Amino acid sequence: MTDDTKNGVTRRSLFAAATLAGLTIATTSSAQTAAPTPILTSRRKLGGLEVSAIGLGVQNMSRTYQTTIPTRSEMHRIIRTAHDRGVTLFDAAEAYGPLEVEHILGEATQGIRNEIVIATKFGWNIDPETGAFLPGLNSKPDHIRASVEGMLQRLRTDRIDLLYQHRVDPEVPIEDVAGVITDLMAEGKVLNWGLSEMGLGTLRRAHAAQPLAAVQSEYSMLWRGPEDGTLDICAELGIGFVPWSPLGVGFLTGTIDPATRFTEGDIRGVEGRFAHLTANLALVALLREWAQRKDATPGQIALAWLLAQAPFIVPIPGTTQMPHMEENIGAANVRFTSAELAELNTAVRAIEIKGSRLPDWVASLSGVEAASR
Ligand SMILES: NC(=O)c1ccc[n+]([C@@H]2O[C@H](COP(=O)([O-])OP(=O)(O)OC[C@H]3O[C@@H](n4cnc5c(N)ncnc54)[C@H](OP(=O)(O)O)[C@@H]3O)[C@@H](O)[C@H]2O)c1
Repeated sequence: MTDDTKNGVTRRSLFAAATLAGLTIATTSSAQTAAPTPILTSRRKLGGLEVSAIGLGVQNMSRTYQTTIPTRSEMHRIIRTAHDRGVTLFDAAEAYGPLEVEHILGEATQGIRNEIVIATKFGWNIDPETGAFLPGLNSKPDHIRASVEGMLQRLRTDRIDLLYQHRVDPEVPIEDVAGVITDLMAEGKVLNWGLSEMGLGTLRRAHAAQPLAAVQSEYSMLWRGPEDGTLDICAELGIGFVPWSPLGVGFLTGTIDPATRFTEGDIRGVEGRFAHLTANLALVALLREWAQRKDATPGQIALAWLLAQAPFIVPIPGTTQMPHMEENIGAANVRFTSAELAELNTAVRAIEIKGSRLPDWVASLSGVEAASR
């Protein structure tokens, strides 16, 4: 019997009951005086797939943006604790590590597999055996099949709940990609699919060929690109939207300032937006103001703002630190009145973000349309 099920009562149900009753209760025996960590009870739909309103991005669990290597057992503990706290959506990719992050997620989710939603991604030209990055993208049907077989092994599962194409392969018609996904669905190996950073024509064609559960593209107060059409199409077609880097790659938590020096190998060091910190910090000042108003943290305001934009939005903040994970899921408790949201939206839109979002070669892979048949 685990700690979670002592006396036949799950820790989660105990916390949920305590919260309803207005009680306070310590989260662990070593935290007798700490305030209770919130349980994430809100659920949202990505197409027909129900998930926690906030997921967990596990991309950095094999190597952080700062290029450090996190302790594997601690990453397992964060994933398990996130599940204990009500998180059901875990976001990985073949490219993370590469391969290594899927191993970590598979190791951590043994015994809870049926209670969670695993999302992962194919699409880079990765050797499924060795993990070596080969040039370019690869969404050829045989390559997708080989990738999925490797994913199932690493994730220690017989199915992927949500499989995304990581980037559109301009040489492969999206209908051919949808075709192999449809076959994998018939085999029970893939349950839902999605696209990431695709062109809008490709989004419509993909959905017509095999209905999509979700689009995953960058969206936050720091990058509002999906407001230019993607979100409208998702609303129209009943597709969920999963913002990646919902904390602006950490910027929106207020932990990056002009004194920050990015390590070599930290992609933020070559992103133009982090070279214009003085101008862009106006956004952090706004977040701090709202954090004070709502008795929250700047990062929680950034996540709550995303949640407030549409009911089909499910952010996946990434972290390798337990307190950050717990803080991030607490964002679901931050609510705005419609007047507050209008005021905040106006203030966000008034701040012009300076500097490019991504290095040119990475940016050139976004908004791409797949070849026609
Ligand atoms: N589809 C795609 O192309 C794509 C691209 C990028 C990312 N993603 C997905 O999106 C997920 C999230 O994106 P992301 O990790 O790039 O960016 P993010 O979630 O916006 O920010 C992550 C950064 O913020 C820090 N952080 C997180 N919570 C914090 C808190 N409460 N206080 C202070 N710092 C905090 C993290 O450091 P610590 O580890 O120290 O907390 C990390 O450096 C990824 O894990 C991945 O699954 C997808």
